[in-house]
Amino acid sequence: MGKRRAAGVAAGTAGALAALGTWDLLQRKHSVLRNYPLVGHLRYLLESIRPEVQQYFIESNTAGRPFDREIRDTIYERAKGIHGEQAFGTERDVNVAGYEYLLHSMTPLTAPETAPRVRVGGPDCSQPYSMALLNVSAMSFGALSANAIRALNKGAALGGFAHDTGEGGLTGYHLENGGDLIWEIGSGYFSTRTPDGRFDPGRFTENAAHDQVKATSLKLSQGAKPGLGGVLPAAKVSAEIASIRGVPEGQKCVSPPGHQVFSTPTGLIEFIARMRELSGGKPVGFKLCVGHRRDVLAICKAMLEVGTTPDFIIVDGSEGGTAAAPLEYEDHVGAPLTDGLMIMHNALVGSGLRGRIKIAAGGKIASGSDIVKRLIQGADYTNAARAMMMAIGCIQSLRCHTDTCPVGVATQNPRRSRALDVGDKSQRVFRYQQGTVAEAVSMMASMGVTSPDQLTPEMLRRNVSEVENRSYAELYEWLGPGELLSEPRPSWATDWNAASADRF
Ligand SMILES: Cc1cc2nc3c(=O)[nH]c(=O)nc-3n(C[C@H](O)[C@H](O)[C@H](O)COP(=O)(O)O)c2cc1C
Repeated sequence: MGKRRAAGVAAGTAGALAALGTWDLLQRKHSVLRNYPLVGHLRYLLESIRPEVQQYFIESNTAGRPFDREIRDTIYERAKGIHGEQAFGTERDVNVAGYEYLLHSMTPLTAPETAPRVRVGGPDCSQPYSMALLNVSAMSFGALSANAIRALNKGAALGGFAHDTGEGGLTGYHLENGGDLIWEIGSGYFSTRTPDGRFDPGRFTENAAHDQVKATSLKLSQGAKPGLGGVLPAAKVSAEIASIRGVPEGQKCVSPPGHQVFSTPTGLIEFIARMRELSGGKPVGFKLCVGHRRDVLAICKAMLEVGTTPDFIIVDGSEGGTAAAPLEYEDHVGAPLTDGLMIMHNALVGSGLRGRIKIAAGGKIASGSDIVKRLIQGADYTNAARAMMMAIGCIQSLRCHTDTCPVGVATQNPRRSRALDVGDKSQRVFRYQQGTVAEAVSMMASMGVTSPDQLTPEMLRRNVSEVENRSYAELYEWLGPGELLSEPRPSWATDWNAASADRF
């Protein structure tokens, strides 16, 4: 090839690459390409040679416990509006211990067009809220970028579901797009904090009064790190975050492990009642990862003694996600969601309080079957964090704690978060939520039920070995209404008798 021709080819290639790079930067659908023009295409190339190559190159560089490929692809496709039926049948081994399945009806129904909703608000609440079956779980501005918060909230507004602020405070980004909010308060009391870090009732009243705030929630613990307070790594404490939270810039922001506002079960319930009063009667609840069953029973006794109840309780499973937690906590502390739900549901039924309180479930919920299973296990509705992150473009690179999120979801770096297009990603989170709830509703219809309260523990079975299986009715104890108050069965009596409204 002559020199001139080679120079022409080189110039042409450079021009084509420059054009492609410019297109990558300007398009709005692929956050990876907006942040990594040209080289980002390698990811899509690898994805196209799936599944084995993708699994090796993409998943082997992640640590922790990411969602498996099948469910992750379902989230992405649903979010993009691709209504993906799968060819060829399940990839799961259905004969192993632990495998769970739902029972369909011999007379399945046609799924209703409108999904059922859940009324949250007990007898002491004057502004009840109609909750969707699947909502955005608590994730702070700080852990997530401003654009991620905007996209989640805009999606919530489009789909009529709720968006939990997380413990990092109620910010302008939460309020821009009009989606329903559950305002969470953690032990750092951000957005309702006095300069010396105490709870400020005046600021609470002011913020809870926003029309968009439909309920408030006190965070006691979260499944990924029960017994530790919230943590925002130093790299993510930007000037803006520091000013919103009232903490020093560039220093790790650690909330205390416990609360100042209560120390006993009675104190907790009294504080919950105060939050409801200060918020003008909006629903109020608390979030926890269940630990001792005795503590849950102590809270029930406190409700009976104080004479009021929260309107909802969010049970978070130890399998739940986080932006930053020590591995030991992620893997070894707190009750998994099934156990937590079973304890909470039965404790409330047994103490005659279940009718006043709704239970939300969180912990690796991503699909319609997850929703239906959790409803059978005692929940009234569900929340998802990481699945919603994936709907707005998270690729599970597991770098949330480093501020180098490649897709702009979990970073405070404006250059990186710019890659997340709010318009496109809000549509995705909207479609993902709608599609997943629609699948849950369709599954319930296949099971012959028209509403979640017709689901029974007989409808969910688990293989307890390779050759035996049991229904949830057989596997777990299900207390009768008010049973603990009259004659607790021996398996509950010791904890019930030891539980006191005056101490944890
Ligand atoms: C990025 C990120 C940030 C989170 N921030 C909070 C928070 O501020 N407050 C809270 O109660 N839980 C927080 N969580 C936990 C979730 O709300 C939820 O309890 C847990 O992740 C279970 O949901 P998942 O398995 O659907 O992710 C966070 C989780 C993630 C992934």
